[in-house]
Amino acid sequence: MATILLAGGAGYIGSHTAVELLDSGYDVIIADNFANSSPEAVRRIEKITGKNVKLYELDIKDADKLAEVFAENKIDAVIHFAGLKAVGESVEKPVMYYRNNIDTTLSLLENMSRFGVKNIIFSSSATVYGEENKVPYTEEMKRGVCTNPYGWTKVMMEQIFEDAAKADKELSVVLLRYFNPIGAHESGMIGEDPQGIPNNLMPYVSQVAVGRRECLTIFGNDYPTHDGTCTRDYIHVVDLAKGHVKAIDYILSHNGVEIFNLGTGTPYSVTEIVDTFEKVNGIKVNHVYGARRAGDLAECYANADKALKVLGWKTEKTLEDMCRDSWNWQKNNPNGYNK
Ligand code: NAD
Ligand code: UD1
Repeated sequence: MATILLAGGAGYIGSHTAVELLDSGYDVIIADNFANSSPEAVRRIEKITGKNVKLYELDIKDADKLAEVFAENKIDAVIHFAGLKAVGESVEKPVMYYRNNIDTTLSLLENMSRFGVKNIIFSSSATVYGEENKVPYTEEMKRGVCTNPYGWTKVMMEQIFEDAAKADKELSVVLLRYFNPIGAHESGMIGEDPQGIPNNLMPYVSQVAVGRRECLTIFGNDYPTHDGTCTRDYIHVVDLAKGHVKAIDYILSHNGVEIFNLGTGTPYSVTEIVDTFEKVNGIKVNHVYGARRAGDLAECYANADKALKVLGWKTEKTLEDMCRDSWNWQKNNPNGYNK
């Protein structure tokens, strides 16, 4: 079976993808500097699957160190999760974001070229659709204008991959545009473990529920949506992880660049998320309505037809599953991996 290098594989999406790849019979190598994750996640991947993961603690930007990973292993494909992803922080520290997110990409591409590895999947984001495009987003829409450096790194990296594939006809690239991943593995052993105050909705909701934070502020209830709060395409992280397995199956037998939305195609509002979380888990989430957050769009959701047609992938889990599994992870690990 093929060997897959997961750059940034100890993180939230990478750890869930590692489990699904191992369960599908792939060998997995993780390279991570734990900038936003913990080696404990890798131990838990091994516990869940009963399989070994080869782990390299290194900064992917360091192309020489990364070369050792390529020299020591026969890698069939790379999945590039290694990025910084906090939108607000990217506005404050743009150079750090451009340096990390772009250099990791270049370092991977250089080593792939040097060692003859021809397949790479990249963690892109729905953020590349920007403000100009109308929902539901389809893959052939032009990339839009982003409101923050994090988003721009995704736009730039998509361009870098497209240029690299133009120059090397054997290179196969899959750009996966994630919508809003939430939830956790049903074992409750791995999940999202943000450092500090969470930026994203679901970790905030579950930290309020567990008593780590006092109250959720819902950012705006005067949007032109059915209940006035923003709508998003929330996707269970295990469904998302399974999308990567399908993309690996695909990439190993195709060349060129393909883009896929990974979303459910169904939007839910912030209020619906809070209500569903409270209902399925039987727990109150203190919340108040506050001002809009700068840069938020009223609506964001995918047309996910292409992933179904080409990869044979579609989501299986419900919003109830997402809320239940997020809470199961949070209550079993109130302080994330640092119990
Ligand atoms: P995460 O922070 O949990 O995982 C990223 C991993 O990359 C972490 O383990 C971190 O330590 C590692 N990393 C970062 N820089 C590195 C470097 N220079 N060298 C080695 N390792 C490094 O984030 P995630 O939610 O799992 O996201 C994975 C990818 O998906 C990111 O590129 C992110 O931008 C993208 N994405 C995430 C979301 C989301 O909502 N979570 C949405 C769209 C796209
Ligand atoms: C955000 C980023 C996006 C990034 C994604 C994954 C912005 C503008 N967008 O998406 O670029 O790819 O995270 O990291 O930051 N909300 C609240 N209260 C909170 C937190 C969130 O009401 O405390 C609301 C937001 O206003 C939004 C929804 O919940 O309507 C989802 O927010 P979030 O989880 O941050 O995701 P996005 O903003 O969609």
